[in-house]
Amino acid sequence: MHILHVVGARPNFMKAAPVLHALHKRTGVHQTLVHTGQHYDRNLSDVFFSQLEIPAPDFNLGVGSGTHARQTADVMSAFEPVLQRAKPDIVVVYGDVNSTVAAALVCAKLLVPVAHVEAGLRSFDRTMPEEVNRIVTDRLADVLFTPSEDGDENLLREGVTSEKIHRVGNVMIDSLVCLLPAAIQCPANRDEDRFALVTLHRPSNVDDNNVLKKILESLIAVSEQLSVVFPVHPRTRARITQFGINIDKLKFLEPMPYVEFLALQRRATVVITDSGGIQEETTYLQVPCLTVRSNTERPITVSMGTNTLVGQDSRKLAIELSAILEGRAKRGSIPPLWDGKAGERIAEVLLRL
Ligand code: UD1
Repeated sequence: MHILHVVGARPNFMKAAPVLHALHKRTGVHQTLVHTGQHYDRNLSDVFFSQLEIPAPDFNLGVGSGTHARQTADVMSAFEPVLQRAKPDIVVVYGDVNSTVAAALVCAKLLVPVAHVEAGLRSFDRTMPEEVNRIVTDRLADVLFTPSEDGDENLLREGVTSEKIHRVGNVMIDSLVCLLPAAIQCPANRDEDRFALVTLHRPSNVDDNNVLKKILESLIAVSEQLSVVFPVHPRTRARITQFGINIDKLKFLEPMPYVEFLALQRRATVVITDSGGIQEETTYLQVPCLTVRSNTERPITVSMGTNTLVGQDSRKLAIELSAILEGRAKRGSIPPLWDGKAGERIAEVLLRL
């Protein structure tokens, strides 16, 4: 069986690695890996390949950055000839980035079956580019791998037939489980007893001057109570420069490799983020997470896990932070099938097809 995987951006890599490794152990499987090049910086891409032991891609489409339309179109036109040449039995796409939907569209047009890993997640907010990517990819996919029950429910409600849906659990947690021992040993661990770990990159939080300024001001207020560790995404750094915001009071770091970031996450007093994956990782690590968004496509992290949505409301952020600092943090539990074996379950289903 020939399985072709498409990855493009940082959050894809930790989802693809466990599937690639699980399939590598099976006989009769030939795998091809395509990197679209959506993320191309060493610290957003190469370093993840090496830490997650992902083999070098067979094809790099080198699409790079651009508007949504341009980036999606560039992936589509570069991927089409690769797919025609490789002739896989099935293509596996991951998550909700522009590369995901672009590859799924090409497969649908060339009648190549598509499997979507991390299917069924919905924020019900179409202003979020990833929500559009999720809906379209799931509509086109022939095999849908969901991380949790809410994913199944969303897909069934949208008319996807139950035979196509496979609840395999959270594959990103496989990478976490695998590299947690390395993170525990990691010298990047900080000396401080208490610190807030911050990440911020959603267009809705960083692309508007006033919104970004307000969020950064509330982070400065946080830094008056405990030290703030803030690895900054290139999109956010570019906006701060563009808007000329003074950030002297916040210490910025470069985006971090997976293991070093995991080492910080597990030791953080609180994580403040607008990332999707980090809401899940903190739930698994049982570290309090304050999400700077008014909705989430990962509601199980709120209902079962340690996640609280604070939106762009600095008052709510301050109240929740105080509760955490006073030892009244939300206690969560780990959702079912977030057990480090999702990649194996995906491999099993793919080979049964
Ligand atoms: C993308 C995903 C988002 C994911 C995020 C993780 C989409 C729609 N968004 O957002 O879901 O959470 O990745 O990081 O696919 N840039 C660099 N170097 C790079 C890549 C990007 O400097 O290697 C800069 C460029 O200025 C670029 C900007 O970051 O324009 C945004 O990159 P892009 O891939 O468009 O989206 P992300 O914000 O990274």
